Amino acid sequence: MRPSGLAHGVFLRNSNGIDVVLGSNSLLYRTIGGVLDFYFFLGPHPEGVVQQYQEVIGRPHMPPYWSLGFHNCRYGYPNVETLEKVVANYSSAMIPLETMWTDIDYMDQYRDFTLDPNNFPQDKMNAFLDNLHSNGQHYVVIVDPGIAIMKGYPPYDQGLEENAFIKDKNGNVFIGRVWPGYTAFTDFMNFDTHSYWQDQIASFLQLLPVDGLWIDMNEISNFCSGACSTESADGVNTAIHGSEQRVKNSQPTRLKSKTRTRLRRSGTGNRRVGFDPTNPPYSINNFGNKAPLNTKTLDMDALHMNGAALEYNAHNTFGLSEAIATNKALENLKKKRSFIISRSTFPGSGSHTGHWTGDNHATFDDLEHSIIGMLNFQLFGIPLVGSDICGFHDSTTVELCTRWIEVGAFYPFSRDHNDNQSHPQELYRWPEVATVARKVLSIRYSILPLYYTLFYKAHTPVTMTTPPAATVTRPLFFEFPSDVNTFGIHTQFLIGPAIMISPVSTQGATTKNVYFPRARWFDWYNQSVAMEKGGEMVNLPAPLDHVLIHIRGGYIIPMQEPGMTTVASRKNPFSLLVALDETGSASGDVYLDDGESLDMSNYTFVNFSCSKSSLTGSVSGTGWAKSSPPLSSVTVLGLDGAVSKATLNGQSISNVHYNSTTQSVLLSGFQTSLASDFTIIWE
Ligand code: GLC
Repeated sequence: MRPSGLAHGVFLRNSNGIDVVLGSNSLLYRTIGGVLDFYFFLGPHPEGVVQQYQEVIGRPHMPPYWSLGFHNCRYGYPNVETLEKVVANYSSAMIPLETMWTDIDYMDQYRDFTLDPNNFPQDKMNAFLDNLHSNGQHYVVIVDPGIAIMKGYPPYDQGLEENAFIKDKNGNVFIGRVWPGYTAFTDFMNFDTHSYWQDQIASFLQLLPVDGLWIDMNEISNFCSGACSTESADGVNTAIHGSEQRVKNSQPTRLKSKTRTRLRRSGTGNRRVGFDPTNPPYSINNFGNKAPLNTKTLDMDALHMNGAALEYNAHNTFGLSEAIATNKALENLKKKRSFIISRSTFPGSGSHTGHWTGDNHATFDDLEHSIIGMLNFQLFGIPLVGSDICGFHDSTTVELCTRWIEVGAFYPFSRDHNDNQSHPQELYRWPEVATVARKVLSIRYSILPLYYTLFYKAHTPVTMTTPPAATVTRPLFFEFPSDVNTFGIHTQFLIGPAIMISPVSTQGATTKNVYFPRARWFDWYNQSVAMEKGGEMVNLPAPLDHVLIHIRGGYIIPMQEPGMTTVASRKNPFSLLVALDETGSASGDVYLDDGESLDMSNYTFVNFSCSKSSLTGSVSGTGWAKSSPPLSSVTVLGLDGAVSKATLNGQSISNVHYNSTTQSVLLSGFQTSLASDFTIIWE
């Protein structure tokens, strides 16, 4: 961003280790290998920069509608009965729970694609899922990339047979160690392995028809630094968490000798004589202390793509390649949009997966950092992002968890998750948190049509939307690039162009300094003008149960009566919140479809436009909205005179409630389909 209000972007497409050194007036990149592909994006609007970047790396994945509901997870749920209780507790607390998750606890000895036969038996798990599904709820589980080295375990045996694993420099299966003990890792960069991965997912879906997958530990995270030294070179496994079962004779495959010769000759990447990729001549500041590059990951001479790529060059792309394989598998198997979140990402990941920001701590600092993380990932082309609400490590507190749900309810991806060493922190545990959770999640659910429309715009090729739209949540300066006061603000953010969230992220604070960029702003709750012109910082009361939300004049927000699930919400009537600017105008839009089809050709897009005392909706698309609920109320804020009557397409509207204090009007008691154009006029 330049003070002139012009934005540009520079992208160095390079997958090697990089030091980035921030100087007082410089940004220095030192990469230890790879290509120097530079892209320059000229904006000049910040959204335009992100959109141009996404044209290069791939437009963001269109998420299924249900994934925009609230999710609950915890590492350490001991059995299916506990899952049932948690779901029931959310329901009796009247807190909308869209998706229940399970961490590695569900697996048999932490092995992917299995179920613990005692604590998560298949019959009970299927009954549990049937129940969730019949309530319009969903279920997601974790999958790690480490496949337990264990003869007789089909994912391992088949991986060997199909040559699906990453190799060490000698062409043997690379052996790391993760939750299940010694593991091999799928060589996702070799696209031939994707059918192997799909087969594993297919068998698992037969066991349990989960709705989405959570791909973790994919940096790759390894408990050994480099290859684990096993008892024999053949890779004997000791299951560290499990039955201590030893499996001898598991002969990892070796690369064919022809391939090995080709490798030696190919000189791929940095294969120079005397070059040790684990300790290259220049040490980047790995782990903040120039740690060897194989620290807690693979050796840098491990081989991907049947030996065509060195870990040294490919390391940072593993999460992306796993996301590509997992997304393809889920789409092929389910024939609908996938839902995945991944811990490791790379430019381009957003076309295949969402992201959560990993293992944070239950601290106010990390609550504040989560806003930065969310906004960064909008820039990175991965708009479906959120942090572990209430904090992952350490036990949360009532105050922190309350403040966190006030922010987390508005993350594009909204999930409460924590680790097995901390106290449980489901939102119903404390009455204070539960009350606020009900309030803020009902706001989230009421604006889901807006979130979904923003995802659609981010996903859709440039020509479809002007002005450019590439992000879901935004820093203030994205919408106010000529207001330099917005540039440094990271504790306030926007949902789309018009809803400003100003959360408290400081312990003990009960007020908040809110910067109002230059526009007219309305208070979300009392619907009156909070700021006529903006350009000012104001200290506002923000007691523990209150998150400040403002609406920008000039915009129309599509809303829907909130239900306890997205399925229920989507059956409720639509409403429009019209926030007039000082000229009496506003505009907005909504995108509607079935929320899950891969083929998005059956949709409805409605442009709303309001000028003076007339609001129109003009419809394009193939008419999907014929099967959706009607628009049944409109609230207009910022009127400059009383309103006593109104018509819809020439017919009088029965309920017209003008509020002279807030200078707003609520029009209701009518129904009009969003599949047809309409005009509402008031006087
Ligand atoms: C990793 C993940 C965390 C998960 C844990 C156990 O630390 O980041 O979310 O709970 O592994 O699977």
